[in-house]
Amino acid sequence: MITTHLNKLAIFGGKPAFPQPLHVGVPNIGDKKRLQARIDSILSRRVLTNRGPMVTEFEQRLADYVGVRHCIAMCNATVALEIVTRALEFEHEVITPSMTFIATAHALQWQQITPVFCDIKPGGHHLDPARIKAHVTPRSTGVLPVNVWGRPCDVDTILSVAEGFGLPVVFDSAHAFGCSYKGKMIGGFCSAEVFSFHATKFLNSFEGGAVVTNDSQLSEKVTLMQNFGFEDRDYVSHVGINGKMTEVQAAMGLTSLEALDRFVEHNKQNYHAYRSGLQNIPGVELIDYDERERCNYQYIVIELDERITSISRDQLLDVLAAENVDARRYFYPGCHRMQPYLAYFPNAGMLLRNTESLLDRVLTLPTGLAVNVEQVEKITEIISRVVESGRAVSLRLRARSGASRSRAANDPCIEAS
Ligand SMILES: Cc1ncc(COP(=O)(O)O)c(C=O)c1O
Repeated sequence: MITTHLNKLAIFGGKPAFPQPLHVGVPNIGDKKRLQARIDSILSRRVLTNRGPMVTEFEQRLADYVGVRHCIAMCNATVALEIVTRALEFEHEVITPSMTFIATAHALQWQQITPVFCDIKPGGHHLDPARIKAHVTPRSTGVLPVNVWGRPCDVDTILSVAEGFGLPVVFDSAHAFGCSYKGKMIGGFCSAEVFSFHATKFLNSFEGGAVVTNDSQLSEKVTLMQNFGFEDRDYVSHVGINGKMTEVQAAMGLTSLEALDRFVEHNKQNYHAYRSGLQNIPGVELIDYDERERCNYQYIVIELDERITSISRDQLLDVLAAENVDARRYFYPGCHRMQPYLAYFPNAGMLLRNTESLLDRVLTLPTGLAVNVEQVEKITEIISRVVESGRAVSLRLRARSGASRSRAANDPCIEAS
């Protein structure tokens, strides 16, 4: 009986639930006609870059939306992080989580600044303010927490701990455009924050990012630095790089901004469909959004407790992949287990127990405009069915991988390594 039931799963030979793969982070696209009209105007003007009218309009709209004094749009968030941390004279060591996309750490390392990885809160996904102290040394120059999934860190506590050590804070808010903390939009909480408008983000400008700040001096410095340090036509006053956003990127960004409410509404419906489909599955916990706040609902993240589900996160990943649901293990295996950090600090994991445990349990599921509620319901049904028979699925998958290993061992064409 259970075997017949399991045979319906694509991983055991059944027909995949979806004819085409559903991916995480398929771009949200706004009104194509509005975008095309903007691109036409760019081409007629022949101003393609160098802070033209599209970029300045985008910057102004972003600053107004977030409620900050300054916004400097850039080619992407990684370069924006590099520039703003350099403008703030971060050097030597900066405290940051490992539970983040590798760009957070690389933006520091690229400048020969050591990312000192700090653990996340027990049971949480964000930097643990209580652990910052343990990582402060005479070489510490700043803190770079991440508002991962668009859910805010413990902002107030982090700011007060950092202030106690005289350390400036920059939030990597790559995921958090359109989200709030204690009723105030994320973006204006510390020296500066950085958003990403990469194609996979809630609001995209193809590629893109922005530094937002209320500090006029910092804004001036960042503006110079992202344009080679040019203060005037023939006058360079700073070391600089090319971090400029192009006009076409800003055209896409403006078009996305106009569609923002639609994006939020769609994501919210998907989130609620996931929530109701997953709520009664033992051992599967959906990371929730605090709906008293503004949320962009861009990430659907579940945590699996294998002791209850009997099936591991990686097995579920494979089962879903066979059904054409391309879930992701963000941010597995964690920055500290990637190079060059693993080589520099092979034992970093000893102080990152919560991070490592989370990274073995977490799975991000598809949402965004490319996914609808019916598809979400189908995904949650698959997860429910699989977890219901978790032990049987797991045993069968293990038996299969054992069999293929022993076939490989007996195959004279496959050399032992
Ligand atoms: C947490 C985080 N920080 C930084 C970045 C880098 O953003 P970008 O791709 O715009 O350079 C990303 C991108 O996905 C991210 O997820």
